[in-house]
This record gives sequence, C-alpha cells and structure tokens, in this order.
Amino acid sequence: MKDAKKAQVDDAHIAVHWKEEGYYQPPARFIGQANAADPDILERFSEEHFPDCFKEYADLLTWDTYWQTTLDTSNPPFWKWFVGGRLNVSYNCVDRHLATSRNKAAIIWVPEPEEERTEAVTYQDLYGRVNEFAALLRDFCGVKVGDRVTFHLPMVPELPVSMLACARLGVIHSEVFGGFSGMACGGRIADSQSRILVTMDGYYRNGELVDHKAKADEALAVAREQGIEVDKVLVWRRHAGQYASESPMVDGRDFFVDELLNDYRGTLVEPVSMPAEAPLFLMYTSGTTALPKGCQHSTGGYLAYVAGTSKYYQDIHPEDTYWCLADIGWITGHSYIVYGPLALGTTSVIYEGVPTYPDPGRPWRIAERLGVNIFHTAPTTIRMLRKLGPDEPAKYNYRFKHMTTVGEPIEPEVWRWYYDSVGKGEAAIVDTWWQTENGGFLGSTLPALQAMKPGSCGPGVLGIYPAIYDEDGNVLEPGSGRAGNVCIRNPWPGSFQTIWGSPERFIQTYYEKYCANKESKDWRDWPYMAGDGAMQAADGYLRILGRIDDVINVAGHRLGTKELESASITVEEIAEAAAVPVIDDIRGRAVEMYVSLKPGFSASSEIEKKVSKAIESHIGKIARPKNVWIVPDMPKTRSGKIMRRVIASISNFADIGDTTTLANPEIVEDIRQHVQGEKVDRGETPRELTAEELKEMAAFGAE
Ligand code: PRX
Repeated sequence: MKDAKKAQVDDAHIAVHWKEEGYYQPPARFIGQANAADPDILERFSEEHFPDCFKEYADLLTWDTYWQTTLDTSNPPFWKWFVGGRLNVSYNCVDRHLATSRNKAAIIWVPEPEEERTEAVTYQDLYGRVNEFAALLRDFCGVKVGDRVTFHLPMVPELPVSMLACARLGVIHSEVFGGFSGMACGGRIADSQSRILVTMDGYYRNGELVDHKAKADEALAVAREQGIEVDKVLVWRRHAGQYASESPMVDGRDFFVDELLNDYRGTLVEPVSMPAEAPLFLMYTSGTTALPKGCQHSTGGYLAYVAGTSKYYQDIHPEDTYWCLADIGWITGHSYIVYGPLALGTTSVIYEGVPTYPDPGRPWRIAERLGVNIFHTAPTTIRMLRKLGPDEPAKYNYRFKHMTTVGEPIEPEVWRWYYDSVGKGEAAIVDTWWQTENGGFLGSTLPALQAMKPGSCGPGVLGIYPAIYDEDGNVLEPGSGRAGNVCIRNPWPGSFQTIWGSPERFIQTYYEKYCANKESKDWRDWPYMAGDGAMQAADGYLRILGRIDDVINVAGHRLGTKELESASITVEEIAEAAAVPVIDDIRGRAVEMYVSLKPGFSASSEIEKKVSKAIESHIGKIARPKNVWIVPDMPKTRSGKIMRRVIASISNFADIGDTTTLANPEIVEDIRQHVQGEKVDRGETPRELTAEELKEMAAFGAE
C-alpha cells in the first residue's frame, strides 16, 4: 500500500496539467468596494497571531454567551474552538437580521420552468417558516437536542427552511443530495440513526417533474435492513395541495408538511442556545472504503468560519445579490448558499434545475433579471455553458463584480472564457480549493489583494498554513517544482470534528501519516492531510493535481471506486469489478467500469445495462458509468490485486507501461483491442491528451 501511494506521488511530480500562467490583477472597481482591501488583514492572520486571529471571524456572530478559550488542544486531533461560547445558528442567520432587513429577500428561489413565478422569501417570511417547521419537528415528531434528522431534498426553499429549523432546536441535520438514490439515502439514514426523513414529492429537472417520494420508500427499506426504523416521513409538496408522486402515502408514517403546518401557523420557537462545540450537521462523502464518511460539523467554529470566508473571499455585503449554482446537497451549498450568506444577511439566489435548461442563456437571463452581482459555480458547469453557448453571456445585461470556481481544477483556457466572457473582464475570480471535511475554503486568493493566476487556486486562505510533504514527511519547499501530499499545518474553526461514529477512522485517514508525536498536545505535531496531490510555486500559490486516494472526481463530485465496485458486484452475474477514471472534456473525469463474469455466464449488453442500473440504484445517476466493459479476466498482480492503472491506461489510450509483474500479462492485449476497438467505433477516441494527463491516468489506483 505504501509503495503504491509512493508511486502515485512520484508520478505526480510531473503530473502538471498546464504551464505556469501569468497573473491577472483584480479590477480597480472591485478593489474600491472590497471587504478586504487593506493588506493589514494578511498580517492579522499571520501565523504569529494564530489562533487568536479567528476572533475576527467569531465576532461576526451574535453569541448568547461569549467564549473564553479560542482553541482547546487537550485531546488531539479533536480540536475545540471558541470553548465556553453559546449561540444559535438559526438566530444568527435569521432573527438578528429582522431589525434592519425584515422585508429584504433572504432567498430568491427560481423554479426551473421559466413560466413559473420566481419566489422571494424575505427575512420575515423565512423567520415565520423556520419557526413553524421547528414547532412541527419538536411537537409532532418529538425531536430534541442532539437527535439526527435526514433530509433528501432538492433545490427548493424548503431545504434551507428545514436546515434552519433543525438548527433552531439543536437537532443535527443530515442532508443527502437529492440526486442520490433511495438506497444511498437509506445507508446514510442508518449510519446517522435518524428516525425522521424529510423529503419532497417531486421537483423539476431538465423539463421533467421527477417523482422523488418513491426514493423515500426504498430508503426506509434499506435503513430497516440495517437496523434503523424510521418513524415518520415528512413530505413537502412541490405544488401545495397537489401530489406529484406515484408512490402511495403510508398511513401513520407519511405526512404532507403543508397539511401539518396548519396546526403551527404563527407558532414561535425559542432558539436553543447551543454550545459552540455542539454538532450542527452531518455531510456524507466518499473515501477509500465503500462506506461513505459522515463528516460532523460544529456550531460556533463552522458558522464563524463560513461567515468570515463569505465576507472576505466571496466579498459578500448585505446589499449584494449572490448566486451560487451548487446544490445545497453538497458542502458548497451548505456553506456558501445557506449558512455563510445568510449569516451575513445578504440575498442568496437558489435555482431549482439544470443550468442549461431550456437553453444555455438561462443563467445569464436569471442574473440579468435579479441583478446578481456575485456568481459562484464549478468548472464542469463553466465547460458546459462554454460548449453549448459560448456567445450567450454577451447577449445579457448583467454585471458580476466577483465570480468563484470550486470543486475541481479549472483549465486555464476555460478560466479565461469565464473571465472574459462570463465576467466581461470586470469580475475578480477566486478559485477556491477545499473539501467536504473542511467546512470552508482552504486555498484561494484574497480577491482584492492577491492577483489571480489561472489554474492555481492561490495560497492558503487567512489563518490556513499549508505545506506539501513528500512520502517521508519532508517539506517540499515552494518553487521546488515537486509534487507531494498537501497538508494544512494548523487547525481551523471550520474543520469537521470527527467522522460520525468512527473517531479512529478520522485519525487514521487525516492525521496518522504525518503525525510527529501521538502523545503531543501541540497542534504543530498534527498536520491535516487533505488527500490531494499538489505543487506549490515560488509565490506560494497551490496547484491542486487531484486525489491521492481511490476517489474519482466526476463533475466536481467525489465518487469512491470501492462504492462503484461494490454496487457492480451486486449484479448476480458479476464476479469482479474495477472502476477507473477517463478524461472527459465536460465533466473533468467520467467513470468506466470493468467487470468479469462468474463461470457459466456470457457477455451481453443486458449485463452491461444491469451494472449501470445497479450503480444508479446504489449511488445515483451522477455515478452512471460512461461504459461498462465485460472482460474475460482482470489484469492482476501475482498476489491477486487488480491493476487498475493498466485498465485506466487502456480506457484513456495511454501508454500501458510495464506489465511484466502481472500474473496474466497476456490478458492486457485482449482487453486493449476489445475496448479501444469499440471506442474507435463509437467515436470515443479522446482528444490528444497531454503527456501529463496520460501520466496521471497511468498512475491511478496502482495497487
Ligand atoms: O480533489 C480536490 C477537489 O475536490 C475534492 C473535494 O471534493 P468535495 O469534498 O466533494 O468538495 C468539493 C467542494 C468543496 C478535493 O480533495 N477540489 C475541490 N476544489 C478544488 C479541487 N481541485 C482543484 N481545484 C479546486 N478549486
């Protein structure tokens, strides 16, 4: 295992996707109004002022009881922030804005069908809705402080309402991305031991009203198999009074929220004053094993961190109209659609559907009509909009002062289209690097003070001190031209607290490798290992090269190879399965599955479809493989391990490299001819890949 990882990092030395780019200076108009325009801020957050520098973030919040200890390191690496403090997140995101901004839109919700009315939810409306739903959760469902409630909700205002209602009660929410399958949702219900599921009957996606409630029935069955019985399913309705699902409502278990709410009209619920260290929510993400990890985020540290980074890195002012196109079902949406923007009392736009529906001018029409001035999305969406409508932005009269890219590396060419065409050369861009685990940004430029460099996210953000280590724990100096494992040397308030139910896995995955001394209570001995390969230029800017574990980043979403493989082998004909990434010009990477059959079965397109279907039902449509290849056997080492790098190279038309260590080298040429022959027939030969991309593919999953 150690050797395999070493090989990956060594290969990453040259896995540089593009040459070093020149700087772009922040536009003067942006600097003039920026929240962080005084370079003193860099000094205030320098290492010598750590951890007290984060008082500046904590002071953006309203505390019921002010905290005494900034950072408690007594139980490494379970750091505690703002100890002794108490606050309520829903109070901070809603109630405290009423005095000045009661009638201002907190949320502007844009339904996917263009003929449907856009809905502005004012802070006063939001206050009413959050209180009523909190009353329902407390009095009808009986949930109390520390209980978990799972949501499986799409991009509708009911999702932030549900989140804030839980936060008001001190109840831990766990939102499962709406596009995930019922089975995926069921596994997460069981892991978090939720007794309540909040869902919706249907929602619009690409012009269709999707039946969503059906997934709840499947989720409950899966949770039951895993020993958790859900008591109540609360079903919001996309159109109040109409039911958009074919799935029957189960008597005594399933309830329409709009009907129940009649009993709670106008009810107010006192916000529960929570310790800063109480968990606020869980967010599941993929890793090396088949079991997704429930990242547990805190109340005070998390909210302070997302408020601070929203202010300085998103440059949110209360009077801005801010639009992040991510899904609230991912961490980006939690931190930078809901909690950060609402803590700052701004207007956050939520769009229900697909950005290119009904045409690639849609986002720019929305921006023009709503006066959006801050725009936030992922490279995969930028690539898609550029491909389908390169000239669309110029047709609309909007002005962005600031734009974000997040979730995957962005190619400089795509970055330049974003800057020139979408931003019209007037917007500052931040390329924000971070992860579900982190709560908020780790790497980015400070938009008015640090120049942009296409393809690099920038230095560590305020109060984050990154370092790149080689396999032996030596620091690779900035400008060394070498890649290694990017780590953060210090704790920060937004970090997750643990993996729900698996503290050992938390230590082992993120801290074990580079911990200098397990007995030490000094944070300097406990660097956080992010799990990404990276290089650092002489100016300190980081270039993120991608995951070092077996995770494939498809359109900015993390998919674990083990999850894909274990879903595939649920198909009765399948003996073995291996998932590999292929370069995809829109989604960054796509998944291809290689499977071999049990004796007595022969290859057929039905089996291929069954594998796709199994992945779709275990994980969700986003994980659907581009191709399923049925092969006579997998290329294996003499100890029986599947050599994923060999099949990844075949899928990407890359150099297969040395196969002499294989137990069955003769199989490789068979597979290559079959797969590449089919790909040529289907017109799927990749564009010419750079030497570095080929190398990256060849380095994948070498175990
Ligand atoms: O590999 C990095 C990549 O996405 C991973 C985190 O994925 P997730 O937890 O789903 O969170 C995505 C949004 C916060 C990272 O380990 N990644 C994220 N942002 C960037 C990135 N790679 C390059 N550049 C980025 N800006």
